[in-house]
Amino acid sequence: MSNSGNDGNAGSNGGNGGGNGGNGEPIIRLRDLAKSYYRGSLEIPVLTGIDLDIPRGGYYALMGPSGSGKTTLLNLLAGIDRPTGGELEVCGYRLNDFDDNELASWRATNVGFIFQNYNLIPVLNAYENIELPLLLTELSRAQRRERVLEALQLVNLTEQMQHFPRQLSGGQEQRVAIARAIVHDPDLIVADEPTGALDAKNAEEALNLIQHLNEELGKTIVMVTHDPKAARHAHIQIHLEKGVLDRTVEVHELPPREPLLGGRVPH
Ligand SMILES: Nc1ncnc2c1ncn2[C@@H]1O[C@H](COP(=O)(O)OP(=O)(O)OP(=O)(O)O)[C@@H](O)[C@H]1O
Ligand SMILES: [Mg+2]
Repeated sequence: MSNSGNDGNAGSNGGNGGGNGGNGEPIIRLRDLAKSYYRGSLEIPVLTGIDLDIPRGGYYALMGPSGSGKTTLLNLLAGIDRPTGGELEVCGYRLNDFDDNELASWRATNVGFIFQNYNLIPVLNAYENIELPLLLTELSRAQRRERVLEALQLVNLTEQMQHFPRQLSGGQEQRVAIARAIVHDPDLIVADEPTGALDAKNAEEALNLIQHLNEELGKTIVMVTHDPKAARHAHIQIHLEKGVLDRTVEVHELPPREPLLGGRVPH
């Protein structure tokens, strides 16, 4: 496993983090991954030579200075964007091979998203925002309702289910977004600075919920953060510097996995 100048950890910690119970196959496998943007014929490299394995059930914090490529990397492994080089395997699929429709359908099944600014739809209430990912599935209205109510309960917002985003506090909005990220039971949750817009108390609450998704529901989490306190919730911190993975820090051992709640959603 080669990883650009790291301490030998980022590439191969899958399954040896202490009782994560995975089958040994990493859920994320990146090899020599690269992303460049082009301005005319001028190539602007943003990520180069990224080698990384993330084990199923892992909780990784992705850190690094502004402009180092964190969001770009997160978008690649969530299937939002495409690499310009290297291998990208996530949740058992080689995303390089997918066309746009396949990628969209893969995302809808496998990934939940949490953003800094929540990205809720203003004209939908909390219930309807959380239900959105389920509209892409074959679940009946009653089955959708059951899952949305379960997700609302998880984030403790059952009483506010009829509230529109403008009628919620920032902390509550982020909890709706967390419920939306989990409602279709994806294996992977990606979060881009999920606490960036929250005060300390709400940040801690959001981080506790994200930790719950990892520890109790077995979700694999990749979280971009600038906040060292937030990063300490993760098992592993990986650091990007100018588009290269330069450092990996193990925070603590992976917790034992619990069985998933709810099961997969048919698409
Ligand atoms: N669509 C794009 N076209 C051209 N360049 C881009 C595009 N998206 C990102 N970049 C460039 O790629 C680099 C990395 O951007 P990225 O958003 O991944 O950084 P980041 O580490 O997430 O930064 P921040 O901490 O500020 O969010 C930056 O130099 C940025 O200008
Ligand atoms: Mg960013």
